[in-house]
Amino acid sequence: MDGKEYYNIKLIVNGKEVKGSVAAETSLLDFLRSKNYIEVKKGCDKGDCGACTVLIDGKATVSCLTSAIQAQGRKIQTLKSLGSWDKLDPLQEAFVKHEALQCGFCTPGMLMTAKALLDENPHPTRDDIKEAISGNLCRCTGYKKIVDAIEAVSKGEN
Ligand code: FES
Ligand code: FES
Repeated sequence: MDGKEYYNIKLIVNGKEVKGSVAAETSLLDFLRSKNYIEVKKGCDKGDCGACTVLIDGKATVSCLTSAIQAQGRKIQTLKSLGSWDKLDPLQEAFVKHEALQCGFCTPGMLMTAKALLDENPHPTRDDIKEAISGNLCRCTGYKKIVDAIEAVSKGEN
């Protein structure tokens, strides 16, 4: 025993009930990864990069700064709720078409942020898109193709 108190939690992840026992300090990120939702990426682990973004009740949220206990009873969506190889979500298709796919670390979070944006505001301006993804960092390249891809979906041009 490690002397910590553990709490039983139950979340709905991508439509499926997931239960576990967590310490007060366990992040939602670590909990999800421990349950094999490894599409949720661990980048900075301190709220700076957006790689760990998931939707909680439809809102884009950095899971590294959210305790697993806070997520008790909530609906969580990870990248795998969007689409699969056989049937990609329009956002995933647009990222491919516009060559907005970047590395496996930043792309999952970018897509989840874009999903939350379009669910809330189906016709954002380019500035709205830039603002929405401003918390999703990529050190490697520019953001133009990502903005192009999200804009194309918003305009039904995909
Ligand atoms: S890993 Fe959560 S914001 Fe970077
Ligand atoms: S961090 Fe993913 S391509 Fe730069």
